[in-house]
Amino acid sequence: MLDKRPLGLFDSGVGGLSVMKEVRRMLPSENLLYYADSAYCPYGNKPPEAIRARAFVIVEFLLSMNAKLIVIASNTTSIAALDAVRERYDVPVVGVEPAIKPAVSATRSGRIGVLATEVTLAGSRFSSLVEKFGNKVEVYNQPCPGLVEVVESGAWDKPQAEALLARCIRPLLAKGVDTIILGCTHYPFLRPLIEKLAGGEVRVIDTGGAVARQVVRIIGKNGLVANETEVGRECFFTSGNPEEVGPVFRLLWGTPDIVVERKIL
Ligand code: DGL
Repeated sequence: MLDKRPLGLFDSGVGGLSVMKEVRRMLPSENLLYYADSAYCPYGNKPPEAIRARAFVIVEFLLSMNAKLIVIASNTTSIAALDAVRERYDVPVVGVEPAIKPAVSATRSGRIGVLATEVTLAGSRFSSLVEKFGNKVEVYNQPCPGLVEVVESGAWDKPQAEALLARCIRPLLAKGVDTIILGCTHYPFLRPLIEKLAGGEVRVIDTGGAVARQVVRIIGKNGLVANETEVGRECFFTSGNPEEVGPVFRLLWGTPDIVVERKIL
């Protein structure tokens, strides 16, 4: 049985597009929905209950659009709401978490750094991950307030962006980390700058590919795969102003003609 229903992805803003790009690369025939909660962005400094409430509203919208699987394309939202969303809705849900396990396998110095939002680093889901996989290494957490806004504004090539990022990375380098985890889906869009500031010896790890592989596995296992001879389409929604966020969507998605529709939830 082929299943043409879309996969539904969401984030506080454009960050989850870094995950959706990997999903699109691995699944060219799937129809994809993306919801950016731009009017409420950033999530990373909001109370977890508020993030959970937004997650419920957005998942309900994606389900009303017939989504067959949900990807919470946000570490912050997954930390705050993944269990609650799984409990409440009868649909497969894939979340994103900082890649502690791969970083532990990659490090030689035994010191890894995690760049993420305050909510992610404070979450019990995150501390459990560190306890489970990181007990033989030193894990240094670095919140990066302001960095999500840099990506949202499309101003990542400005000197202020580099200065802000340098302030986040310097303390990790001072601790001797040789591996840095991008624990926020906005940060892969800053990867060239992060690699430049971290230097060639430091390995930078993100989770987009692993999440996409998990989506491939789940739709295969549950008989949810679309017709592989067709080309999938994308629909983009935002709770913000499409005139403002549209250009950043187009830059990050890499297609000049995508339409971002306003959908206030
Ligand atoms: N991109 C999200 C994450 O992975 C949310 C960031 C935010 O809104 O603060 O954490």
